Amino acid sequence: MHVPKVLKIKKILTESKSVKTFIFDWNFNDSLLKPEPGQFMMIWNFEDEKPMSISKIDFENNEIGISIKNIGSFTNALHQLNNGDKVGIRGPYGHGFEFNDFKKILAIGGGIGMAPIASFTEFAIKNNLDVDVISAATTSNELLYEDRLNDAGANVFTCTDDGSCGFKGFATHRMEDLLQNNVYDLIVTCGPEIMMKGVVELANKHNISVQISMERWMKCALGVCGQCCVDDSGWRICKEGPVFWADDLNNIKEFAKYKRDSSGIRNYY
Ligand SMILES: Cc1cc2nc3c(=O)[nH]c(=O)nc-3n(C[C@H](O)[C@H](O)[C@H](O)COP(=O)(O)OP(=O)(O)OC[C@H]3O[C@@H](n4cnc5c(N)ncnc54)[C@H](O)[C@@H]3O)c2cc1C
Ligand code: FES
Repeated sequence: MHVPKVLKIKKILTESKSVKTFIFDWNFNDSLLKPEPGQFMMIWNFEDEKPMSISKIDFENNEIGISIKNIGSFTNALHQLNNGDKVGIRGPYGHGFEFNDFKKILAIGGGIGMAPIASFTEFAIKNNLDVDVISAATTSNELLYEDRLNDAGANVFTCTDDGSCGFKGFATHRMEDLLQNNVYDLIVTCGPEIMMKGVVELANKHNISVQISMERWMKCALGVCGQCCVDDSGWRICKEGPVFWADDLNNIKEFAKYKRDSSGIRNYY
């Protein structure tokens, strides 16, 4: 799993104005390669290598999907690829979401944070759990996976900052409404840390367990280089994370405050 497999892109799906999903054939029979929702892969375009969540885990068709938001030089280079082009993939890495013993789940994704939320939602529904999803984006043409998640059997509540589709406002505002009329026993979330901080605060207020998925700059993804360590526990997001329980945030003091760039310099939110 640590040696990149050079795989052909099988299919490319345009998900939104800035996001494409790349579909690859995957060998689920090898237990080391069997991914869990919330885990991530390292994607290598033979020049650079970066972490990406697994947005689709399709056991029936032996496929995985990686959704990539075009935000810089690496992601833009990937967006230029076509069906049949090759990339290197290694993983899966990190700890995924846990959902055993829960019944009704609220999954909240902001922007490209919807990628692990999508694979989690499909997986949880296949395991007979009831999942409501808040899918949040800045504007309507950035919303992700709405049809796919509705088809899977989730109740999808869209919200946009500008009100161009669904509820007008932030994911946390929509969450407050849903908490008035529903009883959830687990909340999972991935997205901007400021959003996730709000989600954790509301979940704590309502006494609901919550898991968050974090991002930090990654190089090895093996737990070796220390690039993704967080203050002040030194936990490695690639190894101890990227998914954490809310209680773990007592050991991640930098959460929603700052993150380090590739040189280790703190960038404050
Ligand atoms: C666990 C994890 C899962 C991720 N899942 C996804 C996903 O499903 N889809 C997606 O589009 N993006 C995902 N990302 C973010 C993605 O890795 C970066 O946004 C991307 O590498 C940016 O590359 P760029 O060269 O195009 O942009 P750049 O302009 O080089 O970078 C833009 C920003 O991306 C972040 N970034 C850049 N390089 C890295 C790196 N090596 N490790 C971590 N962050 C980096 C930094 O915050 C940086 O400021 C994930 C990151 C992590 C850590
Ligand atoms: S990326 Fe090297 S230890 Fe996490």
